[in-house]
Amino acid sequence: MTNLAGKSVLLVISGGIAAYKSLELIRLLRKARTEVRCILTKGGSEFITPLSVSALSEHPVYTDLFSLKDESEMGHIRLSRDADIIIVTPASANLMAKLANGIADDLASTTLLASNKPIFVAPAMNPEMWAKPSTQRNIEILRSDGVQFIGPAAGEMACSETGLGRMIEPQDIFDALQSYFKLSTPLAGKRALVTSGPTYEPIDPVRFIGNRSSGKQGHAIAAALARAGAEVTLVTGHVSLADPVGVRTLHVETASEMLDACQSALPAHIAVCAAAVADWRVENSADQKIKKQTGASTPSLSFIENPDILAEISKSPNRPDLVIGFAAETQDVVKAAQEKLVRKGCDWILANQVGKTDNPVFGTDHNQVTLVSRSNCDEWPPLSKKEVAARLVEAMISHFNDTGTKHDDKPISRPLSSAS
Ligand code: CTP
Repeated sequence: MTNLAGKSVLLVISGGIAAYKSLELIRLLRKARTEVRCILTKGGSEFITPLSVSALSEHPVYTDLFSLKDESEMGHIRLSRDADIIIVTPASANLMAKLANGIADDLASTTLLASNKPIFVAPAMNPEMWAKPSTQRNIEILRSDGVQFIGPAAGEMACSETGLGRMIEPQDIFDALQSYFKLSTPLAGKRALVTSGPTYEPIDPVRFIGNRSSGKQGHAIAAALARAGAEVTLVTGHVSLADPVGVRTLHVETASEMLDACQSALPAHIAVCAAAVADWRVENSADQKIKKQTGASTPSLSFIENPDILAEISKSPNRPDLVIGFAAETQDVVKAAQEKLVRKGCDWILANQVGKTDNPVFGTDHNQVTLVSRSNCDEWPPLSKKEVAARLVEAMISHFNDTGTKHDDKPISRPLSSAS
């Protein structure tokens, strides 16, 4: 797996004969299990079709700022926020001029202006255009604004002139992005295990006991760990989410299956148990469908306790260096979470208060959590589940930076008593 696996790239394709090379770049990125979303400018669509871009990227292509469809599917702000980086291939003189001068008159230039992510450009233009003082001024502005240039190269151009202005080959752009991510993958070399979603405990072959967990938080954590360079195994119950890109995903149904899959993924450096595991399973589950018989008494179920996966991982001989659980509590959140942490033998717990109407949690995209360790806690503001995931991964990175691979309470900032 390359260090581009699990990353998300927004590719802006502007007008120029080199636009066709973007198709090969998309292919290389997808092969490396990178998520690719594309904006095709009006000029770009004169050279390649939206259909080929969308077929290769496996996503719709975004073309028009004011198209209701594009904006309702994914607005330009989200497009720029969801990607780890933005890369413009080919970057035309016109688009570079707009980017240098803050002009936002179409989807590509507006998204670039709205972006808070690293921007890479692979320029492609006629050598005279490249050498023009106006273009050179724009390049200087872009460089001082932190835009990173990949190329251009020198050589023969499509217009049969020779000089500086050829777009760098897709493989070289791919290699440049690889090198960039190598430097920005602080968890490279770490193995992580994440559980997510509900478990289903069968009553008979067609009925089960389950719960409302959507898996959104666990899946977001797996994706964030992969983006930070970790080698991630996600063990998930039934959810309606796609497997995160660049993450080895094992699908299970019951708590016992989840435990087996987790044990097969050890040893690991990090374990995050975000699954809503059923506490009990049906002891007398039936091999055949239980039939309703008129006049007969209703069936009664007896239960048997399920293994506690978090506790099992915490006491495993292959115990990860950092074991993290979740706790949904209705009262005394921090105290209850700390007791749970001691009982289950984990290092951190992300605790949230459920049952409050302003923090419904299940199925929503938001969460408000407190990160609790044995002696500290840190109450986080309301965040999206993706932001919670990113912040948790940041906490893990500083933990490993501070302590090597040993666990202690360092990364958490506030004394326990102050958050309850
Ligand atoms: N968990 C687990 N296996 C179980 C039950 C829970 O791995 N059989 C994990 C969850 O993934 C979560 C943490 O334990 O990280 C807390 O789950 P919770 O349901 O709050 O804990 P319980 O032990 O069931 O405690 P409670 O009595 O509060 O329900």
